[in-house]
Amino acid sequence: MNARPPPSVRPSLGQLQALRDAPHEFLVQLAARHGHVVRCGVGPLSFLSLTHPDAVQHVLVTQQRRYGKDTFQYRLLAEVTGGGLLTADGDAWLGRRRLLQPSFHRDRIAEFAPVFARFAERTVTRWREPAERGETLDVGAEMMHVALQAVVKTLFGAEIGDRDDRLASATLTVLDHIMFRARTLGLVPRWLPLERNREARAALRVLDEAIYDTIEQRRAGRHADRTDGPSDLLDRLISAPDEHGRAALTDRELRDEMITMLIAGHETVASALTWTWYLLARHPEVDRALTDEVRAVCGDVPLTAGAMSRLPYTAAVFQEAMRLYPPAWVITRRALDGDVIGDHRVRRGTLVVLSPYVTHRHPDFWTDPEGFDPERFLATGPSERPRYAYFPFGGGPHLCIGNHFTMVEAVLIIAAVVRRYRFTMIGGAPDVIAGVTLHPRDGLRMRMDLRR
Ligand code: HEM
Repeated sequence: MNARPPPSVRPSLGQLQALRDAPHEFLVQLAARHGHVVRCGVGPLSFLSLTHPDAVQHVLVTQQRRYGKDTFQYRLLAEVTGGGLLTADGDAWLGRRRLLQPSFHRDRIAEFAPVFARFAERTVTRWREPAERGETLDVGAEMMHVALQAVVKTLFGAEIGDRDDRLASATLTVLDHIMFRARTLGLVPRWLPLERNREARAALRVLDEAIYDTIEQRRAGRHADRTDGPSDLLDRLISAPDEHGRAALTDRELRDEMITMLIAGHETVASALTWTWYLLARHPEVDRALTDEVRAVCGDVPLTAGAMSRLPYTAAVFQEAMRLYPPAWVITRRALDGDVIGDHRVRRGTLVVLSPYVTHRHPDFWTDPEGFDPERFLATGPSERPRYAYFPFGGGPHLCIGNHFTMVEAVLIIAAVVRRYRFTMIGGAPDVIAGVTLHPRDGLRMRMDLRR
């Protein structure tokens, strides 16, 4: 069959505005009106939207060698993460992935469970007094904090307190700056003497100094806090040998990996957890089933990695929340060569846009796509859905290296919270902002009631 060019749409001014203000919804509309393959934009500013799971599989898995990461999304991230795993490509990426993979093995991640459980418990204990006083809580900000505490501890052994912290605010400033650069299409030079540029540089310096100091201490054989658990990721990476048995990573490379994990493993987890609380508040029947499972399995004893495998409904709640609100709502690639997808030609250099947000809600692949039904992820036996109808962690060789990390952390945090509290919405549904991840426009203020 002769391949033909994909259908093409030239957006009106109003549509360009919609693309800027709510790109995730723009992509939903694009697919609804023009189908699973559509080229949108003008000249070099155009992109190809692919929303069919088979096309996702083609780009991320079966023909992944034909697609690279030289895209705007990754260029912006690389300004902060340098040559870290998330933005690396080609042979450099492969070597690095092989080196890092063992540290993210399911069994190694299970060793972090006590760390996740400890921060989760600390968080729910801290909420007790405000809850008793009937105060409300910005659940979005709380999830950002606990996710940051967990990732910083497991990455490089540092403790972030419960109050304002330099590392916490530096990370938030850096994330915010990445978003600002994205919104302004990277057109505002980083050297311009703007307050915002200065703040971002200062924040990055704070993170760099903390990371380089820790690397120096570790190389000198000092570990600040060796008594309280497993070796952290930095230890594992410092001692990861190359093929000749020598230390494989330089200080700069270690810094790039640390900051990559910090950026990739913080807001993503927090975003998914925040939407989980929102959805649970809107669906009391799911909240009830979840609480029943957690109470039956965990009672009031400390949470452990072992509990994980006995909390399938809890995991399903989180998976379903990531279906509706996938933190990584868009994944981009650049076609390195000409290609054919289905019966459409893809020209070399095309910017390909895959969106878990769109595919996860597409009525072609999901019944009641807007519903919140964790049971979808509990069904046993072969699924009728195509494999890549659901891809919150991407797929193929670039599959998120932090996927087990995320699941262990999220399930333990959810279990710790639902044992004590029920959240209630105040106000209506929040506006969704599609930034680095999906988040509620003005945070997510909720009332928390202690469960008896
Ligand atoms: C809800 C949580 C998370 C989500 C939704 C998520 C999503 C993703 C997605 C979609 C990709 C693939 C990107 C692409 O192919 O272009 C990815 C890659 C990656 N993620 Fe995650 N992630 C999460 C948590 C984490 C955590 C906790 C870490 C580390 C501690 C992490 C580190 C990474 C890294 C390093 C990559 C690059 C992998 C590679 O290309 O080899 N992520 N993530």
